[in-house]
Amino acid sequence: MSEHKTLVTGGTGQLASALAARADVVRIGRPEFDFDRPDSIASVFQSVRPGLVINAAAYTAVDKAETDVDAAYRANRDGPATLARLCADADIPLIHISTDYVFDGLKSDPYVETDPVAPQGVYGASKLAGEQAVLASGGRAVILRTAWVYAETGKNFVRTMLAVAKTRDRLTVVADQHGCPTVAGDLADGILKIVSTIDRTGWQTAYHGIFHAAGSGETTWFGLAVATFEEAARHGARIPEVAPIKTADWPTPAKRPANSRLDCSRLQAVFGVRLPHWRESLTRTVDQMYSTAPP
Ligand SMILES: NC(=O)c1ccc[n+]([C@@H]2O[C@H](COP(=O)([O-])OP(=O)(O)OC[C@H]3O[C@@H](n4cnc5c(N)ncnc54)[C@H](OP(=O)(O)O)[C@@H]3O)[C@@H](O)[C@H]2O)c1
Repeated sequence: MSEHKTLVTGGTGQLASALAARADVVRIGRPEFDFDRPDSIASVFQSVRPGLVINAAAYTAVDKAETDVDAAYRANRDGPATLARLCADADIPLIHISTDYVFDGLKSDPYVETDPVAPQGVYGASKLAGEQAVLASGGRAVILRTAWVYAETGKNFVRTMLAVAKTRDRLTVVADQHGCPTVAGDLADGILKIVSTIDRTGWQTAYHGIFHAAGSGETTWFGLAVATFEEAARHGARIPEVAPIKTADWPTPAKRPANSRLDCSRLQAVFGVRLPHWRESLTRTVDQMYSTAPP
């Protein structure tokens, strides 16, 4: 890690927590650092004087964003734009996190970074606007699009499944959305490897731009639910029957891409980073949940 401080935004969020658990970083969250109060961004920046910034803060409530449009854009576009300008002015790298939801999901293969974007909802559109603002700042930026993030703590699909299983005998889960589940800790490990590479080699032009960074392999939400219960069964948990349904049978305010599988080969080619296979990470993460904070 560089002798300069690494500033991590995102407070107690899944990724910010995973980064703070693994490295000596300055982690900041609300109220001190709030994208709704633009001057708080500059004042944190000036008091920390970071050598690199990892922006893990975002408006992540995908359905709520459909009606809370201004707040989503403040956190996902305007805040990152301000942060990126501060990083550009200070001549330091910014690692900014984005999402698979910038795509419409109609492609049949995994998405590569150069594929056309076409977000389906406000969250995806605001995150896409954030990517564009970061690139427009003119600074050095690594933008990592990740997907289906969960952690051993916090609010996420895996923990929700385990919590719901306590009271339900039967569950239905969407089986026609395909993606790459990503454990926050695995993504944090990958990001920290990127930081060490930047420290070791100095900034290279190949580092600039968009990279896909999700767990290896692929599944559906149904597949993730079934695998979660397989793991929970090893811990003696009560397991419900799980039935697959179509997206059309589970209407949500925001439309989700049917295919959000990300091809992460550019990340591997440039930084030598490949996130572990989602299935092995699930085993490890469910074990951690039961040993620390059972759902
Ligand atoms: N979760 C997913 O499935 C997923 C999928 C694809 C991409 N991503 C991206 O991955 C990154 C990390 O996500 P995550 O899963 O760690 O999200 P998370 O657990 O929801 O954490 C996001 C954090 O952002 C902070 N935040 C929200 N609004 C803010 C504002 N107006 N000003 C300052 N901070 C604000 C909150 O921190 P405090 O309230 O604690 O300060 C929150 O804890 C985000 O860029 C997200 O878009 C996530």
